[in-house]
Amino acid sequence: MDKLIIKGDGAISGTLKISGAKNSALPILAASLLADGPVHIGNLPHLNDITTMITLLRCMGVEITLNEKLSVEIDPRSVNELTAPYELVKTMRASILVLGPLLARHGVANVSFPGGCAIGSRPVDIHLKGLEAMGAKISIDGGFIRARCNGRLKGANITMEKVTVGATENLLMAAVLAKGTTVLHNAAREPEIVDLAEFLLAMGAQIEGIGTGTLRVHGVSRLNSCAFTVMPDRIETGTFLAAGAAARGKVRMTHTRADTLDAVLLKFEEAGAHISTGDSWIELDMKGNRPKAVSFRTAPYPAFPTDIQSQFMAMNAVAEGKATVVETIFENRLVQVHELNRMGANIVLEGNTAIVTGVESLKGAPVMASDLRASASLVIAGMVAKGTTIVDRIYHIDRGYECIEEKLQQLGANIRRVAG
Ligand code: EPZ
Repeated sequence: MDKLIIKGDGAISGTLKISGAKNSALPILAASLLADGPVHIGNLPHLNDITTMITLLRCMGVEITLNEKLSVEIDPRSVNELTAPYELVKTMRASILVLGPLLARHGVANVSFPGGCAIGSRPVDIHLKGLEAMGAKISIDGGFIRARCNGRLKGANITMEKVTVGATENLLMAAVLAKGTTVLHNAAREPEIVDLAEFLLAMGAQIEGIGTGTLRVHGVSRLNSCAFTVMPDRIETGTFLAAGAAARGKVRMTHTRADTLDAVLLKFEEAGAHISTGDSWIELDMKGNRPKAVSFRTAPYPAFPTDIQSQFMAMNAVAEGKATVVETIFENRLVQVHELNRMGANIVLEGNTAIVTGVESLKGAPVMASDLRASASLVIAGMVAKGTTIVDRIYHIDRGYECIEEKLQQLGANIRRVAG
């Protein structure tokens, strides 16, 4: 397994181009199954998860042409296999997002039941309950979700018991081809869901309330070809801003959007960062000062995103003062604390709360990545630690960050990848 070797001795500054959003590209690729003709999707990030989703669509018989900049031409009319196999679903839980589109377009879907992962049990009960409310018959056998519906799904009035990104996306994709109107109450409002809805509108879907907690969908009989460009990745943006803040540097992110990160930018300002923004860039300048520790709690958008929690924790670990971090979305998403403490951090865990007392500096150590964003926090910690940090199991990182070492080298980080 590849490893990252990081020496925390570089001043961090510079400019980075942000890639397309993984968590927007994945549902949009799944939604291409709904179309009655070819769709063109641009600004896809070069990530293992994107490759996995493309592989999944191809194994269903979908014709996909990769263009030079990893934009893709997808023609879903050649679908001949309505199954998402275990081998692919076990590597990427987001495979569950083909369930709604397959049911809506073909009336049949067999998706391997996604297991939990390092951050939590990750149930899909709300996805399944919503599809049953729309007339799907669902059974679980042999580790597979087997879903059927006679004719078209029916519009329904659905209240999701939790705010869930994936269930909102699956039910939205199911509803656009259903017969009648579907109302999704307590819907998640993440920008990636707005991007998915815009893609569906581009194909001819009829959706009201985009960006709000209530989505009203008037089902149509078919969806057309379209061309669409995926939004920038706000989580990648927040990750590299956190690296700049932890390293007391000055960094600028281009090809990104400030309007999807309000809660995060406010917290960086509370930490003492000078933030400036334009219509497609964000600049963070610590003016060489040590960040101040900042308390926060994760919650659904527009609150502070769980996907930036561990990166901000790495900044808090070397900040001045004490802060509490509360993780309210996933039951096991504070695991990076143990590895940060092995690097000399002073973090005490109390249930879903971490009490962080900043230390002047961390010490490099061999550490192990456990999930995508926890891995990123270890890389940030390594960038500011004295000595050498070796981050193992970085396949987690490659799922969500495009060539992370090359991007961080552009900021002056002393980081290299070695084949394991
Ligand atoms: C999406 O996961 C993202 N993944 C996650 O990003 C992100 O952390 C998460 O949303 C929250 O923002 C993608 O978009 C591919 P949820 P998802 O359904 O959809 C519970 C990353 O690092 N729940 O919003 O799986 C669930 O247990 C990844 O890029 C149910 O109880 O998250 C959790 O506690 C990690 N029943 C809460 O809802 C259900 O049927 C939020 O989960 C579904 C979810």
